[in-house]
Order: sequence, then C-alpha cells, then structure tokens
Amino acid sequence: MSLDGKAAIVTGSGRGLGLAYARELARLGASVVVNDVDQSVADEAVAGIRSAGGTAVAVVAPVGPTGTAEELVAAALENFGRLDVMVTNAGVLRDKTLWKMTDEDFDTVINVHLRGTFTCVREAVGVFRVQGSGRIICIGSPTGQRGNFGQTNYAAAKAGIVGMVRTWALELRKAGITANAVIPVAATAMTETVPYFRSAVEAAARGEAMPDFFRRDLGFGTADDVAGLVAFLASDAAAGITGQAVGIGGDRLQLWSHPEAVATEYSSGGWSYEELTARFGDLFGGRLQSVGETFPPLPEELRPEELQPEELQPEAEPAPGPPAADPDPRAKRRTA
Ligand SMILES: NC(=O)c1ccc[n+]([C@@H]2O[C@H](COP(=O)([O-])OP(=O)(O)OC[C@H]3O[C@@H](n4cnc5c(N)ncnc54)[C@H](O)[C@@H]3O)[C@@H](O)[C@H]2O)c1
Repeated sequence: MSLDGKAAIVTGSGRGLGLAYARELARLGASVVVNDVDQSVADEAVAGIRSAGGTAVAVVAPVGPTGTAEELVAAALENFGRLDVMVTNAGVLRDKTLWKMTDEDFDTVINVHLRGTFTCVREAVGVFRVQGSGRIICIGSPTGQRGNFGQTNYAAAKAGIVGMVRTWALELRKAGITANAVIPVAATAMTETVPYFRSAVEAAARGEAMPDFFRRDLGFGTADDVAGLVAFLASDAAAGITGQAVGIGGDRLQLWSHPEAVATEYSSGGWSYEELTARFGDLFGGRLQSVGETFPPLPEELRPEELQPEELQPEAEPAPGPPAADPDPRAKRRTA
C-alpha cells in the first residue's frame, strides 16, 4: 500500500477529524501514534485501527507543551523505529466576542492550536532533517483565512498556523521535507448541534448521503471526506507539494491563495497624511477587501421546521465585497 513502512503521528485523533485521518493513514499501511487528552477515545481509536488490520499505539497527553511533543516523537521511534508524517490536528474552542474573551480563553486556544503545532512540528523536524524526508500536515480553518465573529483566539491561532506553514516550506525545502495546511470543514461533535446543518447531520446518521447543497455549495461533509487529502499529502505522490493551504469538505476541494497585494500605487517621496487623505479613497476605495464568510440561505426543503428564522442562518459579519469562502461551522453556536 502507498504508506507501507511509514510512521505517522496524528494529534487529537481520538475522535472527529483526527480519528478519520488516523484510520485512513493506517488503512494505507502507515503505523500511527494516536494522541488525545481523553484516554477512552484514544484507546478506542487504537482498538479500531488494530481490528481493521492496522498498527497503532496511543499517547494520552495534552498537546501544547514541548514535553508532549517529545513524548509523541519518542513513541513513534520506540514503537515503529521511524517517523515520516506529523499531522497537527488537536484543537479546542473558547468562542467569545473580543470584549468578553478572558486571558485564559485566549491562552488556552493559542496553546493547543498554535503552540501545539509549533512544538510538535519542531520535534518531528529534528528526525526529518536527519533522514532527509518528512511530511508536515497542519490543520487550519476558514476562520483563520477569513476571520469570524466571536473567534479572536481561534482566528489568531489558525492564521498563525498557515503563516508557520509558509515559513517551514521555505526553511525545509532543501531538506526534502514538505509542509502544508489542510483547511477542513466537516460534521464532527462540535458541528452536530448547529441547526443550520441539522438536515445534513441527520441524513448522515441515517446512513444516507448529505444533500448536495451541503456537500457542494457549502463544502460540508463527513470527517472521512477530509481524510483522503491528509493521506495524499502524506504520500510520495505529494512530494512536490509544499507551502500550500488546501481546503476540503464534502464534494469540494479548494486551493487557497496566500495573501498578496491586490493594488499597488506609488508616490514619489512617500505617502504623507495629506496625500493619503486626498487620494486613498480614489485609489483603493473600490477595492477594499471583505472579511468573514457569507452563507447562502438554507433551501426551504432543508429547513428544520421548529427552528426560529435566526437559527437558520449561522451568524456572520458579511462585509461588502466578493463572496467569501467556507464557513467554519464549529463557530456557529457561540458561547457568547
Ligand atoms: N469540524 C470542522 O468543520 C473544522 C473546521 C475547521 C477546522 N477544524 C479543525 O480540525 C481539528 C479537529 O477538529 P474536530 O472538529 O475533529 O474537533 P473535535 O472536538 O471533534 O476533536 C478534537 C479532538 O482533539 C482532542 N484534544 C483537545 N485538546 C487536546 C490537546 N491539548 N491535546 C491532544 N488532544 C486534544 C479532543 O479531546 C478531541 O478528541 C481542529 O484543529 C479544528 O480546529 C475543524
């Protein structure tokens, strides 16, 4: 199989998207270190992979501190004798508007997502640079790409992750190591209660395909829909792909752009306050960029009957400008 003989670490892989990644990597022949803070789901994940004929061990430890990163890499080396793939997926949400967000809300999310990605990848790269190969697959979010109401901490972490991926692609290119970000959207524990997605989640629970509106228009599907991309990026087939942010969900696959200047103007001697006041509107006024995501209204036949109109549309802060990309559906039931 395409990942035979390789070893992978997937953080936060006891449930949700991480579990789907771990299973898919194992199905394709990789030995997997499953990681979670929840012992029971980590053990279940390992048992599931083994009963399907795969190889896995569990490390129950919170991603964030360097000690956990060291433990994860040591587990791969001790159990499988090597490490080829690091998938940084572990995540938590502490959604609140800026004026209600505490230091703890901010630090918790930054620690797991941003610091956890940094410490785990740094530790893996110690092995990758010696062997001259390795795959780094980090998990971003539409919120990090576009911003989202109520997610200061999460937007900062996810945008930071993609920023680190771009930097690592540069730093590690000569060492034969790739670094890419996956921008997923999927039904997981955190999205299943969102009214907007209810008919999709219920269809999946009945074993039916989700309606096309969700799978195509919103790019919203199951966790398994995302796993193939992670396995592809981990494989030899993706050797030339690095520094990319690839969106996936349901039937949709997207290549995200990196930020770049959309308009450039020059003023000899520089731009004074007076010059900007006189000219900014004319030069850039029609090209100001939109923020956040916009959501199409739910088609009539997909609306849960008992819900109030405001529950049918995930909250968003649309700004004037071109239509935005995916939602991060996990943010649509905010705590504040
Ligand atoms: N579900 C989506 O639509 C979506 C969209 C964009 C991004 N993401 C990202 O995908 C990743 C997985 O999300 P999910 O929806 O599967 O979430 P989930 O809550 O279903 O699963 C996350 C797992 O991570 C574990 N975890 C939490 N903190 C941890 C820590 N410090 N160390 C180790 N494990 C920890 C949890 O116990 C849980 O099992 C996250 O990074 C999330 O931000 C998800």
